[in-house]
Amino acid sequence: MASNSRGQFSSKLGFIMAAAGSAVGLGNVWGFPTKAASNGGAAFLIIYLVMVFLLAFPMLVAELTIGRYGQSNPIASLRSIWTKNRAAAGFFGLIAMVAASMILSFYSILAGWLMGFAAAPALEVVGLQSAADWLVNFGDARNVILALLFSLLTIYVVQKGVADGIEKWSTRLMPMLFVLFGVMIVYIFTQDGAMDGLKMYLIPDVSHVTPALLVDSMGQAFFSLSLGVGSMMVYGSYLKKDVNIPKTAAQVAAIDTAVAFSAGLLILPAMFVAKNNGVEIFNAAGDLMSSGDLVFAVLPAMFDTMGSMGMIVGTGFFVLMVIAALTSSISLLEVPVSCAQDELNMTRRKATWVIGSAILVLSIVIALNFGSLFGLVADISTVYMQPLLGVVWAIVVGWIWNRNKLLNELKEGNPEIEQGLFWKIWPWYVRIVCPVAILAVFMFSVL
Ligand code: TRP
Repeated sequence: MASNSRGQFSSKLGFIMAAAGSAVGLGNVWGFPTKAASNGGAAFLIIYLVMVFLLAFPMLVAELTIGRYGQSNPIASLRSIWTKNRAAAGFFGLIAMVAASMILSFYSILAGWLMGFAAAPALEVVGLQSAADWLVNFGDARNVILALLFSLLTIYVVQKGVADGIEKWSTRLMPMLFVLFGVMIVYIFTQDGAMDGLKMYLIPDVSHVTPALLVDSMGQAFFSLSLGVGSMMVYGSYLKKDVNIPKTAAQVAAIDTAVAFSAGLLILPAMFVAKNNGVEIFNAAGDLMSSGDLVFAVLPAMFDTMGSMGMIVGTGFFVLMVIAALTSSISLLEVPVSCAQDELNMTRRKATWVIGSAILVLSIVIALNFGSLFGLVADISTVYMQPLLGVVWAIVVGWIWNRNKLLNELKEGNPEIEQGLFWKIWPWYVRIVCPVAILAVFMFSVL
C-alpha cells in the first residue's frame, strides 16, 4: 500500500492520549484493584510497580519502535526487520493478530456489562425497575446483547480511521475520565471505613510476596500496557518520526500506572465503606468473596450511599468506564484490521466490518458458554500468548535487528540518544534480561 494512504496521529498529544487510551481500560479499573485486593493490597502494588518499570516499560519501547520503523501493520513491520526469515515474521504477526482478536472477544463481554451498569440507574429512576435489574444481572441474553452493542461501538470508531476516530475520541474522553476519578476518590475518603481500605492498600505485608504474586503482577502489567499482541506496534506505526519514543513510552506508562493506582485508591476504600454499610465482601475465612464481581458489587453499593447524587455519579462513572474500555478495544481491533487492510488489500471499512463481525461471533459463542469458555479464552490469550509473544519481540529487537538500524530509528526524534543512559542500558537489557525474566516468570505460572 502506498504509504501516503496510511493514517497518522496528528499531534504528539493525540498519540499519547490514544496510546494511554489503549493502555487504560478494564485492566486498570477492574483487573488491577481486584488483584490488589485479593493479593494483600500494598504487596501487590509494590511488585506491580517494579514489573511495570523493569519489564513492561522496556517492552513498550520495543513494540513502539518496531511499529514506527515498519510504518505498517504488525505483520509487515516485523517482516521489515526480520528480513532473513520473513515466514517467521509473518507467523508471529499472525499469532499476535489471533491473540488480539481473542482478547477483544472476551473484553467486549466485560465492557458490555459496564454498559448495563451505566444505563441501569436511569431506568430505575423512570420506574423501569425490571429492565434495570435485567441489565445488571448475569444472563445469556443480556451478555450477548450488550456485547453486541459494545462491538458495534468499537467497529464504528475503528472504521473511521486513525486521526478522526481513534485519536479524536481518545483525546476527548481520557481527560474526562481523570477528572471523574479524582472527584470520586475525594468523596470516598470522607466516608466511614475508607481508612481501612487505604491501610490495606498502602501498608505492605511481606508475607504476601510469593511466586504467584510475581506471575499475577507481570501478567497485569503486560495486560495493562497492551503488550504482546501488536496493539502498541500498530499505534507506533502511526507515529511521526519526530517523536522521542522512550520519552513518549515513559509518559504512556506513567499515565497508565497513575490510573491503575487511582483505581486502587478508589476501589479498596470503597470496599471497606461498603462493608461498613452491611455489604458482605469477605467470607468467614477472611478471603474476598467473589473477587471478579468485586467492582460490580462494591461500586454500586458506594453510589447508593450517596443519595440522589449517587445516581448521577454512578451513571457518570460507568459511562466513563465504557469509554475507557472503548479506547482500549479499538487498539485491539486495529491489529487484525490493519493487517487485513494491507495484506489482503481491503478498504478500512470493509476490513473493520468483516473482522469486527467475526470477533463478535466469537464473543457470542463465549457469552453463551460462559462457564467453560470465558476463563479459557482469557487464560490462553493473556497468560500464555501475551508473555510468549513478548519474548519473541524482545528477541526480534535484541538479537535479530541490526543494532545500527535500531539506533537510527531511535535517533529519530531523539538525536542525542547515543550519549544517554537509556541507550547504554536498554539494548542489552531487551536482549538478555527481558526474555529471560519474562520466561522465568512465565515458568512459574505453568508449573
Ligand atoms: N490495556 C487495556 C486494559 O488495561 C486492554 C488492552 C488493549 C490490551 N489492547 C491490549 C490488553 C493488547 C492486552 C493486549 O484494559
